[in-house]
Amino acid sequence: MSQPLVLGIETSCDETAIGIVKGRTLLANEIASSVQEHARFGGVVPEIASRAHLEAMIPSLDRALKSAKVSLRDIDAIAVTAGPGLVGALLVGTSTAAAIALALDKPLFGVNHLAAHISVDYLTHDKAIEPTIALLVSGGHSSILQINDITSSITSLGSTMDDAAGEAFDKIARDMGLGFPGGPAVDLEAKNGDSSAINFPRGLTQAEDWRTRPYDFSFSGLKTAVARYLESTPDYKRGDVAASFQEAIVDVLLQKSLAACTATGIQSLVIAGGVAANSRLRELAEQRCRDAGVLLRIPSPLLCTDNGAMVAALGSLMSSAGRPYSAIDLSASSSLAVTTVSV
Ligand code: KG4
Ligand code: ZN
Repeated sequence: MSQPLVLGIETSCDETAIGIVKGRTLLANEIASSVQEHARFGGVVPEIASRAHLEAMIPSLDRALKSAKVSLRDIDAIAVTAGPGLVGALLVGTSTAAAIALALDKPLFGVNHLAAHISVDYLTHDKAIEPTIALLVSGGHSSILQINDITSSITSLGSTMDDAAGEAFDKIARDMGLGFPGGPAVDLEAKNGDSSAINFPRGLTQAEDWRTRPYDFSFSGLKTAVARYLESTPDYKRGDVAASFQEAIVDVLLQKSLAACTATGIQSLVIAGGVAANSRLRELAEQRCRDAGVLLRIPSPLLCTDNGAMVAALGSLMSSAGRPYSAIDLSASSSLAVTTVSV
C-alpha cells in the first residue's frame, strides 16, 4: 500500500483534532478547541478537556470525512496520539480510534504526540529530511533531538531542566495580564516593542554549561528575571518586556539547536511544536540557518500547534515503512518518552 489513506486522531490536551492524509497529501484538518472553557482558570483543566473531547469527537470526525470527501470505509489505517498528554483526554482519542479500527478491521497506530509534531513537516516538504536535528518546542516539552528515522529512531540530545518554552511564554503572559494561551499574545505584543530594551538572562549558556550540558535548556531564571522586572518597574512598557523576553528565549533555542547541527555534522534543522508558530523564532531561525548553511524546515503556523494532520502524517509514514501495528487495547501514557515513537 504505497499511498495509504490514514485517519489521525489527536486529543492530548485541549484540541479535539482529526486529520486525514493520503500518503503525504493533506486532505482534511479539523480542529475543535476547548481553550475558551479553560481561559478563566489560566490553564487547561483536565476534566473539562476530557468532557469537551467526548462532545466534539463525532462531529469533528464527520466534518473531516466530509471535507476530505471520503467515507470511513475508505480509510486504510487509523493513527491516534497515545501520549504524552492528559490521560483522561488521551483516553477519549485512543478509545475512539480502537473502536473504529475494530469496526473496520483496519490497522491501528498509537503514536507519540511529539514525533507527530515533527512528522507534519513531511506533508509540506517532500525531500527526505533524515538525518536531521529537530528542535521540539511545545507547551509541555522542549528538546533537541537527532532524528535518524522518524518512524523508529529518535535520540534525545538535550531537554529542558525546568519549564517548557511554551510554558514560559504562558507564564510571562499571565504575569503581564495578556491572557491564556500566552504564546500568541506575547508574539503579538512583542511587535510593538524593542527586543534590545531589556537584557534578560540566557539560561545555561555559560562556558561551563556549554561543556557539561550544551543542549539542555533552563527557563526558570529568565521567568524570575521578568517577574522581578515587572515588580520593580510599575510603568514598564508591555511591548518592550514581551519583545526582550521573546528574544532571550528564541536566542537560546537557536544557539543550542545550531550547536547540535555543528557537533553532529547534520546540516538540517526541523523546528516543530506550538512555539514553532512564533514569528520571531521563525524569522531568526531563517537568518541564522542561512548564515550557518543549515537547511531549515518549519511547518506552517497552523500545523505547528496541535492538530490531527500531524498524527495522520506519522501514521502514514509508519504504515508505508511497514512498522508493527499497535494492539487494539493500546494504553494511553501521560508521560510517554520522546524517544518512543509508537506504543
Ligand atoms: O504543541 P502545542 O500546541 O501543545 C502542546 O503540545 O503543548 O503547544 C502549545 C504551546 C503553548 O504554550 C502556546 O503558548 C505556545 O505553544 N504557542 C506559542 C505561539 N503559538 C503557540 N508560543 C510562542 N509564540 C506563538 N506564536
Ligand atoms: Zn503539541
